[in-house]
Amino acid sequence: MPVVSPEFSVLSEDFAADPYRWFARLRGRAPVHHEPVIDSYFVSRYEDVERVLTDHEAFTTETLQVRAEPVMRGPVLAQMTGAEHTAKRKIVVRSFTGRALRHQMRAIRSNAAELMAPFLPRGRMDLVNDFGKPLAIHVTLDVLGLDKRDGQRVAAWHSGVAEFITSMALTPARRRHCLDCAEQLEAYLLPVIEQRRRHPGEDLISQLCTAEFDGIAMSNRDVTALIINVLAAATEPADKTLALLFKHLIDHPEQLARVRRDPELLPAAIAETLRYTPPVQLIPRQAQEDAVFAGGTVPAGATVFCMIGAANRDPDAFTAPDTFDIHRPDLGTARSFTAAAQHLAFGTGLHQCVGTAFARAEIETVAAMLLPLLDEVRFSPDFRYRETGLYTRGPVALPLDFTPVRAGATARD
Ligand code: HEM
Repeated sequence: MPVVSPEFSVLSEDFAADPYRWFARLRGRAPVHHEPVIDSYFVSRYEDVERVLTDHEAFTTETLQVRAEPVMRGPVLAQMTGAEHTAKRKIVVRSFTGRALRHQMRAIRSNAAELMAPFLPRGRMDLVNDFGKPLAIHVTLDVLGLDKRDGQRVAAWHSGVAEFITSMALTPARRRHCLDCAEQLEAYLLPVIEQRRRHPGEDLISQLCTAEFDGIAMSNRDVTALIINVLAAATEPADKTLALLFKHLIDHPEQLARVRRDPELLPAAIAETLRYTPPVQLIPRQAQEDAVFAGGTVPAGATVFCMIGAANRDPDAFTAPDTFDIHRPDLGTARSFTAAAQHLAFGTGLHQCVGTAFARAEIETVAAMLLPLLDEVRFSPDFRYRETGLYTRGPVALPLDFTPVRAGATARD
């Protein structure tokens, strides 16, 4: 196991190749790791991460003013507090739960069936690039009520926005590119917002346009920021979770067989995937005063990154944390998608993910469609598994081979 030496850096290629190799040493020897190049702190113990995310007075989201606001074109949910946060969060939650959720699930099934159809007779599909990424974009466009024909443009702009938020250091050229993407996305959204103000529908953009906060309708800037907020938050982690779920199940054939026999186990498999390999690896906060931890002090004003992957593998929180086990008793599937979740993949506290129920339903629905169709599923020959991302992390590709499905025998709605 590598040693956390003075030269150790979370920005190194070694760490990027496989952060999980380093987590035990970080938790043990450098639980409050300082990264001089970006002058930021990284906390890795479950207890410390939970403290940072729940002590909202001591650790605020102020850092997002520079990390997110420039590409969101306005303040995002995670920056808000008090009544404004509660009210705007409620509007967004409404679009992802109850009747809206049931309606969305129908759209997800038809999007998924359409996207997988060309690959099924071939018996080969890259679960990330052929299916998961376009699906996540289509699903989010549906929720927002945007035209799917704009999917590619929106996906390109979205990737510039995501690059800005998730990069530790951007060159001036990349920074310009990301800001250009955000400006073009904003220019694309403004006429849509105007149109929804005049003719509201059932979609999330219409709800944001017609909702009032303190008796005042939200400005175009506020609505734009919330749309980009949801676009970024909902798209990035969903396709990664689906691919990671299949990766782990294929790596553990006996657990794959159990899930095939009993699809009721899918939520447990998804929850364990989120614990074992959380797609959102870092959550940033800003210390308001000097914060003393068992392994060091974060000075007032500093940015502190919560290492979700490391916290979810902390033996003080989970037994045999480096083992993928959908039957583990210390996770609790039912609460894994609620505010009481034991794993920290959705964050915790005030800013915990608003899309937990939606993410569960989306991934469960799609996985339940795929499993019976991907008979004898395995990694394609010569495939070398690789993940990327320090901030959000997932497989670069996941080419799968399976028994070709004869034409017509595609997924049922
Ligand atoms: C497996 C899928 C997902 C994962 C792992 C995930 C993870 C997260 C995490 C870690 C946070 C907390 C950020 C913080 O504390 O600063 C968050 C917040 C958020 N997520 Fe998700 N998310 C997922 C899916 C979704 C979906 C489908 C939506 C769509 C509604 C969504 C919308 C949001 C929003 C709007 C926030 C900000 C909430 C606030 O600040 O009050 N997420 N998510």
